[in-house]
Amino acid sequence: ASLRQRDSSTAKLLAARRSQQHKLSGGGTKTVFKLAFNQTEDHPQYVAGVELGKKLEEATDGRYSIRVYPNEQLGGQADVVQNLSNGTVEMMWIAASILEGYNPDFVVFNLPYMFDSTEAQTQVLSDTDLLSDLYTSLEASKSITVLTGVNAGTRNVYNSKRPIRTPADMQGLKVRVQQSDSQVAMIEAMGATASPMNFGDVYSAMQTGVLDGAENNEAVYHSMKHDEVAKYYSYTRHLLMPDYLLINSKTLAGMDEADREALLGLLPEVQTAANDGMVEFANKSIAQSEAIGAQFNDDVDVAAFKALVAPQNLASVNQNDARIKLYEGVQAANQAHPAK
Ligand code: GCU
Repeated sequence: ASLRQRDSSTAKLLAARRSQQHKLSGGGTKTVFKLAFNQTEDHPQYVAGVELGKKLEEATDGRYSIRVYPNEQLGGQADVVQNLSNGTVEMMWIAASILEGYNPDFVVFNLPYMFDSTEAQTQVLSDTDLLSDLYTSLEASKSITVLTGVNAGTRNVYNSKRPIRTPADMQGLKVRVQQSDSQVAMIEAMGATASPMNFGDVYSAMQTGVLDGAENNEAVYHSMKHDEVAKYYSYTRHLLMPDYLLINSKTLAGMDEADREALLGLLPEVQTAANDGMVEFANKSIAQSEAIGAQFNDDVDVAAFKALVAPQNLASVNQNDARIKLYEGVQAANQAHPAK
């Protein structure tokens, strides 16, 4: 049975390959990688992905390019990453927490109040020596390579019922989290009931009252129209979780060396473009949310929330040396770039 399975997945892989290769006029073929994205076309990661495709096409004389599929057209992140692993989708942007299901050590950067500032996070995500073991840890078993990591804003809690000032205000709220144990544990420690689900299902779940709220950065709160159905946005500032750009490892290994180097050489630009775009994206959306009645509340007892999650953070980091090493990297970055 396993052989048959393998044969049919190989056949699917070859079919997918055929459909995306076109003949180039000067001979050879053009390969277009599918890059899956779960948000809108105005998100900086969409723009950065499109730019990467153009530059890759130039750098490889047209042999490689990228098409970005926004709005969960290829599915939610938890499903798409399986398709990336089996090679039917070549690339994707993914929230860091989803990778905990494949290698639990990814958890360190996904813990609440881990990074003191965006700058500290950027420093860590630029430290290729610190990250190389983590980023290649899924290549042999899952054919997943992390190409780069980027800032994805600061996550805050929003809901349809009331502003959150203290942990007591979280009581009784059903709050959507990403599909990972760390995210469930986080929201439960903060006082609410956690409900893991795909990002694209959150709007209708809040609209129908299945959920009371969710947590995300201001830009996504507006671009996904969550501000229409959950008007209380409170600055719990509990999480700066990275997003990662992934590629199927066999796809990457299958490129000619010069083409692969061209792709890898473009990554620092992708990272900067996504990071820079994020700040502006968040700033301009706040006024737009306010215009339709959203209320932003910055009177939050952040120290109380920090105290509630501290014990589980410590327990999680202390699981093994790999995590402790990543944690030490974060601490050094936090010292260099403290909260403002
Ligand atoms: C952020 C992040 C996405 C993630 C989403 C979510 O918007 O950039 O990668 O999917 O949060 O909460 O699921």
